[in-house]
Order: sequence, then structure tokens, then C-alpha cells
Amino acid sequence: MTKVFINGEFINQEDAKVSYEDRGYVFGDGIYEYIRAYDGKLFTVTEHFERFVRSAGELQIDLDYTVEELIDIVRQLLKVNEIKSGGVYIQATRGVAPREHSFPTPEVKPVLMAFAKSYDRPYEDLKNGINAVTVEDIRWLRCDIKSLNLLGNVLAKEYAVKYNASEAIQHRGETVTEGASSNVYAIKDGKIYTHPVNNCILNGITRKVIKWISEDYDLPFIEETFNVEFLKKADEIIISSTSAEVMPVVKLDGETVGDGNIGPVTRKLQEGFDKYIETKSN
Ligand code: PDD
Repeated sequence: MTKVFINGEFINQEDAKVSYEDRGYVFGDGIYEYIRAYDGKLFTVTEHFERFVRSAGELQIDLDYTVEELIDIVRQLLKVNEIKSGGVYIQATRGVAPREHSFPTPEVKPVLMAFAKSYDRPYEDLKNGINAVTVEDIRWLRCDIKSLNLLGNVLAKEYAVKYNASEAIQHRGETVTEGASSNVYAIKDGKIYTHPVNNCILNGITRKVIKWISEDYDLPFIEETFNVEFLKKADEIIISSTSAEVMPVVKLDGETVGDGNIGPVTRKLQEGFDKYIETKSN
């Protein structure tokens, strides 16, 4: 029986219920994280929960849990569901209160929910690459917060699906920001270009790992904005996320990227990523 976590308890999936007045449900007023498990161990879990705590802080949600307690919850969740390879989703909403846009007074307790799923690494796509399309970034200006408000991302991803692509690469005006659910990199002349960490993108944990790998292998990692034209002329393009890892993009808007093969920098980053799975999972 699949177990989920709601407010301090591991309960059967079908008994897991939340209130119609939960502010996550009514306003999207909450935050989340998605963490990968490899061989029953959590990958870069501290980095994920540090970001979770930061997101909560930016929205003035008072989490009742420390990073250590949160790690313990997701670890138990993997264990009770006997998950080896998979992922854990965890979210916190501001809590349950009568519908009023401003924060509830008196303050209510946040609602914490988590569930886990079993699945394999995306081996085929990592080997062959994926298709992507470009789309205007219509999201709000606090994309650094991993909030439950994902309408812009949902619409972008749906646009990708409509054009038989796996990811939508967003651009604000001409500036490439990030994917619907990933960070984006253009590789040119052996250098890795990616949008700097600011309010326009999520500070991806996989992005952080890619930065570590590029330092390990002496690959220039350039955190500067670039435009759609630059991306289209890149030798290699990758997207990264907790589930997609270091994912090559071989077609963009129907055009072949570079020479159509998975390039040497991408391969190096994928190799480095496998090493970090060994050292950063616990
Ligand atoms: N999404 N940018 C956006 C908009 C994202 O939604 C994600 C991840 C990333 C990559 O972040 P990370 O490397 O920390 O996973 C960047 C997750 C996986 C999701 O929504 O399920």
C-alpha cells in the first residue's frame, strides 16, 4: 500500500485528504521540492532542503521543521514505500484558513505533504537527446522561489507537448531564461553558458552540480545571459533538472543542434554527473 506523509503522519494514499480551504489549493500559496533517490539514497538532499527553507522564508511561511527533520521525513517515506530508484515530492502550504488574499490572522500552521514514486533514470534520452522548442517566458518575476504557482511553466510545457518536444526553453524578450522545468545551457567552443542566478530563474540544484563538474574538469562555466540566436548557433545544448539530469537537446524548433550528435562537453558533464551520484547520495 502506497503511503504518503501529511502533517506528521504516514498514511495510506487513499486516506490522504486536505481541506478545501488549504491556501495551496485556493491560491497556490506554498512551496515545493523534488528530490531524486538513487539506490535508496537521497541525492543532494541538503541542498534541496536549504532551497526549500529559503523559498519558505521568501514567502514568509514559518516552517515547523528543521532541515534535519525534513530529511528524516523523506528518508522514511522512501523506506516505507520500499523505493530504490525514484523521486520524492514535498510541499508546504501556508495552511488552512477562510479565503482571504492577505495572510491569515492569527497565523495558521503550514500543511506539509510528501509522496514518493519509483522510476528509472532516463537512460534512452540521456543517450539520444531530446527535442525542445522555444517559447516566450510569461512568468512572474520571482522565479527564484520554488512556488506552487506553476501556470506559466504548465502552459510552456503544454506548448512543447503540442509540438512533439520534451521541453520548452523560455526567453524573456530575446534573453533565454530557463526551461519549463529545467535550467538551460548553450555550449560554444568548449565553454558552457547559462543564465546567471537571479530572480528570473530557479537556482537549480542540478545546475549547481554541473558547476562543480565544470570546475573539476576545467570547463569554463559562464554565468551570463545570452539570446535565442546564440542558443540556436550553439555547438551543444543541454537542459538540467533533478529528473532529467544532464540532458542533451538535439533538436531545437525543428532544427538540428550542432552536428546532431551528443557533443564532447555534454558527455564529459554526464560522466561527471555519474560520479557525483556516487559521492553526493546518502
Ligand atoms: N523542476 N527551473 C525550473 C523552472 C524547474 O522547475 C526546475 C526543476 C529546474 C531545475 O532545478 P533542479 O535541478 O533543482 O531540479 C529549473 C522540478 C524537477 C519539478 O518541478 O519537478
